[in-house]
Amino acid sequence: MPGPPQEPLYQRGDSIFFEDDTLFVLDQTALPRLHVYLELTNPRDVVDAIRRLAVRGAMAIGVAGAYGVLLGATTARGGGPDAVTVAAREAIAEIGASRPTARNLFWALERMEAALRESTGADPSKMIEELRARADQIALDTILTNRRLVEAGQELIDKGAGVLTHCNSGPLAALRYGTAVGVLIEAHRLGKDIHVYVDETRPLLQGSRLTAWELGNAGVPYTLMPDGAAAYVMSRGAVQAVLTGADRVAANGDTANKIGTYGLAVLARAHGIPFYIAAPCSTVDLACASGDGIVIEERGPDEVRCIAGQPTAPRGAPVLNPAFDITPADYISAIVTEKGVLRAPYPESLVVARG
Ligand code: MRU
Repeated sequence: MPGPPQEPLYQRGDSIFFEDDTLFVLDQTALPRLHVYLELTNPRDVVDAIRRLAVRGAMAIGVAGAYGVLLGATTARGGGPDAVTVAAREAIAEIGASRPTARNLFWALERMEAALRESTGADPSKMIEELRARADQIALDTILTNRRLVEAGQELIDKGAGVLTHCNSGPLAALRYGTAVGVLIEAHRLGKDIHVYVDETRPLLQGSRLTAWELGNAGVPYTLMPDGAAAYVMSRGAVQAVLTGADRVAANGDTANKIGTYGLAVLARAHGIPFYIAAPCSTVDLACASGDGIVIEERGPDEVRCIAGQPTAPRGAPVLNPAFDITPADYISAIVTEKGVLRAPYPESLVVARG
């Protein structure tokens, strides 16, 4: 069981924390070369950091978004309750338009909107106090939820297993414990002697820059490989499970995650390997009937034409750059949440888990 029974809101090494009217986020675009924190003081800074993926990962952008709303309200503190309400609502709209796919961002913004409604009629400092309390609660809930999730996920990871993962779903993406990568770090801590195969995750290399860095820091044995090596390692018998995070899970279990995840699920099926998703209930969108309703973010062409700013394709090459894909529920052997391991039929198990 990781960590003390009571969790502090912030602790040394956290990638996101709020202090002195400033949101500090570890700049994920600079890792692993540089370990620098950005200081965000208004909602525009937060939108920019989310769009550039300086803060990224479904739960991390939810928490950053919540504090972004608080920053918006704080800038209007001198103008009376109406000004605070208008500024907070503008921040909710701007931040909500930053990235469309991860459910957790909207889950967090909806909670901030509820806090705003509940504090209507209060004076500005009381409103800001309420918004601060709600943003802190969102951060703490995220931490506690993921702690339960990484424990629940242990039933999926056998001793001595080779586990393939894609993109980054560790503490950087999901605060302190992480989700899928958090399950693997905990499996290692429990002495399960696992080995992790890390997809580098083109185009932005979240696997090689972030997951490899996190696993290395935690002492988890891993092998970094190009995305195209997945079929090869599976065919050699090195992989006993595939485990990834998720950005949105539809009511029928269809799951959006980093582009390339669906291909891994198909490969896992072809090799008789279980394919697992790790995601908290805040990632589940019961209003979305199936993956067809999930908006897939399209990102700019230069992310594909270049690596680390250096051109690797002819200038102006036509590009397709979807940030996510949808894995149909039928390919998903189980979804681990903070409420335990869910299995098909997902339309039932997801509703029960969400309570
Ligand atoms: O574009 P990114 O880097 O934000 O994509 C993130 C992922 O796909 C993660 O796997 C996901 O957020 C799950 S972990 C919280």
